[in-house]
Amino acid sequence: MERLAVIGSGYVGLVTAACLADKGFHVVCADKNPEIVKKINSAVAPIHEKGLDDVLRRTVENGRLRAVESPREAAQGAEIVFIAVGTPFDGNEIDLSQMKSACADIAPWLAGAKNRPVVVVKSTVVPTTAELVVVPLLEKLSAKKAGVDFGVCSNPEFLREGNAVADFNNPDRIVVGGLDSWAVEKVRKIYAWSDAPVVAVNPRTAEMIKYASNSLLATLISFTNEIANISYAAGGIDVKEVTAGLHLDFRLNPSVDGRRLNPNILTYIEAGCGFGGSCFPKDVSSLVSFAKSLDAPAGLLEKVMEINVKQPLRVLELVKGSIGALAGKKTAVLGLAFKPDTSDTRESPSIPLVRGLLGEGAEVIAYDPLVGDEFNKIEGCGALKHANGWRDAVRGASAAVLMTRWDEFKEITEEELARLMSKPVLVDARRFFDKKKFARITYAGIGYRPASNNR
Ligand code: UDX
Repeated sequence: MERLAVIGSGYVGLVTAACLADKGFHVVCADKNPEIVKKINSAVAPIHEKGLDDVLRRTVENGRLRAVESPREAAQGAEIVFIAVGTPFDGNEIDLSQMKSACADIAPWLAGAKNRPVVVVKSTVVPTTAELVVVPLLEKLSAKKAGVDFGVCSNPEFLREGNAVADFNNPDRIVVGGLDSWAVEKVRKIYAWSDAPVVAVNPRTAEMIKYASNSLLATLISFTNEIANISYAAGGIDVKEVTAGLHLDFRLNPSVDGRRLNPNILTYIEAGCGFGGSCFPKDVSSLVSFAKSLDAPAGLLEKVMEINVKQPLRVLELVKGSIGALAGKKTAVLGLAFKPDTSDTRESPSIPLVRGLLGEGAEVIAYDPLVGDEFNKIEGCGALKHANGWRDAVRGASAAVLMTRWDEFKEITEEELARLMSKPVLVDARRFFDKKKFARITYAGIGYRPASNNR
């Protein structure tokens, strides 16, 4: 089996490294953070990711996976080196500094490698980055020729946080972008254990497939939120009934043997408080700025972002519409992570909501099964208090706001809210609850407002 290296051991890099080690490859992963390296070598997952602990235990114990701090050391002897470093969006464009330093770090190894290795870009980067940034940099720093002495491929990931291990093991597609068929072939062989279709294209097309995939899903979410907001404005239209109608369109939800497939895409056609995480906001914004750099119109995607930025503020309006001025009022926020089954709060819609509530003088108390005090470090969120459970959070509160679809919130009932809150108000920012079950308390949901007389 080939020797592989992965530079950058964040959630993409580490899941890739650990899962490939589990398939039998010998993998060395690198991370500049000594704490992360120590944890991996002790078979402890540095991030919360379902199933990752088990994979680490197996692969660290059997010696197929180890972590080091030096990318050059990780690359030594490798046939394929994956680069999975962060590419944060700086407000204008993605910041390639980590990508460039990873290239510089592995260049001495590349200079001496005799086995025609392949460098694979796994990080999400705007189209043309592999060809116009990575290749020239590696060539310059190693004095070797791409396509002759080494290969460069783009191999984007499609891993959902919280499902990353399962997604890696059951890929829906394997996208490999390369300029040289031999390099593409080498990367394709790494995935020989999977029967997923391989999309072999040039590197910039592979990079575009990644952006287009995430932009499509983000567009569906903003589209649905726009429909929700129009339904709200009209009154008497519940967006949940509208989406239920949409979900039966045979083109979205085909029947097989008389049964609907209910594909996962439908979960992106639900009204809520907007998308977050480390991918959607960053990827859509990066694609917009890439388009601008080319003078290509990207008005649709700009609107997708605009709708998303405003959506959490609509939740704030719903709270105010239900309980009036916020000053001095205790408000419970249920869920801080950007989605369930992760502790990740990057770009979480709960951030602008908490900021807004605190900014208007509310006393805000949150409960999230995986997120604690670290949330308070986020700008404008310092005064947030934390409860030990949802009951604790809503006790004596003027409003309870459901922000993340955590499974344990399913146990919330009208009776308990009525018992724990003085004047119970439930604001459902994810349309998580069946509003009929909360008919005896005040229920306000995104995308629904009772019809008024004049409409
Ligand atoms: C995403 C892609 O799904 C994955 O293929 C890619 O490689 C990385 O980015 P992830 O960021 O983990 O994965 O999030 P995902 O599960 O797709 O959800 C994205 C966001 O959309 C979350 O904030 C979620 O709450 C939100 N969302 C989802 C909605 O707001 N409404 C919905 O209907 C569905």
